[in-house]
Amino acid sequence: MANAYISGTGYFVPERVITNDYLTQFMDTTHEWIVERTGIHERRYVSDETGPAGLAKHASEIALKEAGLTVADIDFIIFATSTPDYYAPGSGCILQDEMGFGNIGALDVRVQCSGFVYGLSIADQYIKTGEFKNILVIGAEVQSTAMDLSDRGRDTAIIFGDGAGAVIVSATEENKGILSTHMHSEGKFLKELWLEIPSSRKNPRIDQKMLDDGRQNLQMNGREVFRHAVKRFPEVIIEGLEKNNLTTADVSLVVPHQANTRITEMVRRKLKLPPESMYMNIHKYGNTTAASIPIALAEAMRDDRIAGDDIVVLAAFGSGFTWASAIIKW
Ligand code: UT7
Repeated sequence: MANAYISGTGYFVPERVITNDYLTQFMDTTHEWIVERTGIHERRYVSDETGPAGLAKHASEIALKEAGLTVADIDFIIFATSTPDYYAPGSGCILQDEMGFGNIGALDVRVQCSGFVYGLSIADQYIKTGEFKNILVIGAEVQSTAMDLSDRGRDTAIIFGDGAGAVIVSATEENKGILSTHMHSEGKFLKELWLEIPSSRKNPRIDQKMLDDGRQNLQMNGREVFRHAVKRFPEVIIEGLEKNNLTTADVSLVVPHQANTRITEMVRRKLKLPPESMYMNIHKYGNTTAASIPIALAEAMRDDRIAGDDIVVLAAFGSGFTWASAIIKW
């Protein structure tokens, strides 16, 4: 049976930098409050009608180049996003066309912050069964168009940003790659972090009253999300390590979903990991939902934070609730 390893990484963020000070024009907040509560200094917003597929194209081109592959080598596309370009069809289909892939399968994964890890898990299975040799796995988001830039939306608007990360998952006979993946959900908490409108339960799916009430914007109960996140992150990391007879002492780097610096710090302390074992870039990009792990992974590679034989742990928690981890031998 083949192993699945990450043969290339890439990321792309839009040029438009949105500082904390910029947000203070629209809402009652301060740079100091945002930094203290979240660790975020700035985030990126698209400036035109670019959707996640457009951001993903740039990230994917870089990942392909790093893997030494071309579009002709890719057998399947897995596109994780909670902010698809359109309600239908999926962003994977848009990317298939825009990058000139063959008529390969393109699957959208809608698991919000955990989407990239779920996507990696799917890729891992296809590689291990021998069905595919090279799979493009993407996490890409345009959250900015669902932000309520007013006092009403200040708890979410300060957190989320736009961006894309991509990896190529390839088959190898070597003893390396994805060791295991672990996925969970708990749908009873769906309204703690959700985007309700447009909804197929409504006819029409969206109307002026819903817009006036701001139901087209991402809604979050920050305290509740925080409370669950600090429990689920350590749990799913330990679950993955135990599955592989590893301990936290074996971990070279954790690349967590970039939700909030305070969450990551609490998780790190719970796991008794040293500060340098957590890769963080939230100060630059905020929380980019499904894109945050592949962006961070690509940056960690470029910062020489990952070397051959390292045990790298990916871990996510978010809307759903969903949470997931991947244990990788690099
Ligand atoms: O990808 C996963 C999804 N998201 C997360 O992981 C986010 C998880 N949650 C969080 O990061 C935090 O809950 C937030 C950063 C959203 C909020 O921080 P907090 O420390 O939990 O603040 P809080 O919601 O308990 O609010 C404390 C105070 C409140 O005022 P009162 O009621 O104490 O007077 C809020 O109204 O801070 C106020 N507040 C703000 N103040 C200045 C809320 N948002 C802001 C703001 N600027 N932007």
